[in-house]
Amino acid sequence: MRKHNFTLNNSEPSVNAASDSSQPIGIFDSGVGGISVLKHIHALLPAEHLLYYADSLHAPYGSKTPEFICERAFAITDFLIAQGAKALVVACNTATAAAVDKLRAHYTLPIIGMEPAVKPAAAASHSGVIGVLATVGTLKSAQFAALLEHYGQHVRVVTQACPGLVECIERGELEATATRQLVASYVAPLLEAGADTIVLGCTHYPFVRKLIAEIAGPQVALIDTGAAVARQLMHRLEDTGMLATGSTQGEVKFWTNSPAPDAKWVIASLWGTLAEVVHA
Ligand code: DGL
Repeated sequence: MRKHNFTLNNSEPSVNAASDSSQPIGIFDSGVGGISVLKHIHALLPAEHLLYYADSLHAPYGSKTPEFICERAFAITDFLIAQGAKALVVACNTATAAAVDKLRAHYTLPIIGMEPAVKPAAAASHSGVIGVLATVGTLKSAQFAALLEHYGQHVRVVTQACPGLVECIERGELEATATRQLVASYVAPLLEAGADTIVLGCTHYPFVRKLIAEIAGPQVALIDTGAAVARQLMHRLEDTGMLATGSTQGEVKFWTNSPAPDAKWVIASLWGTLAEVVHA
């Protein structure tokens, strides 16, 4: 993968992949978390071919600098475009905050990013307190500050970074005792503050939704943005005439650069069915 000097990226968008509707959609995350978004995309757009890149060698992104994450985002986007991607989904809140503006300034293919669901959570809350679980990188970002400014004015927003949780999920330890203890320690301050709505502000966290729900209890709503991102992608593809049509099921292909011996097993188990996984 080549390196980009993204800091000098003040020119016109420069990469214009000629696209047609039969080309695949590229999706990436720091690791396996974005598979939670991939599932929504596949369910909504079954005819689309989907390419998923798990940058697990560099996970977690949450503790990395925005510059490092940009470097990775550009390299992976180049890779996915080289595989024929007609559109890109940054299935990672942390990478969206660090890189999506720069990606959009550089590439002309449709790029969909994600952000923690503060807006719907604020609208849904009855207690007036919402909790946000996210990475350090997301919570520190200017984009998150802007989100709070826009949508967090009429509620109290309690944020909680979750160091170590992404690593548990990368190892496929969704129900392990250590994972449960970690989740409990991160959810407790939100409950103590009176949150009745918790935002899963990292695409890894829906994979421990069951744990979070057990710990938070039935009176607390959990919100993530996977389904909304899939709908946004569909609208962008419709608007640009690139939505795949036909009744044939699209193919889904994974790449991972994880050094873990069971990386392919973790992907297959999170995806839930047999999957073609290539070591990148
Ligand atoms: N899944 C990512 C997100 O949505 C990043 C997690 C990480 O690598 O720290 O923020």
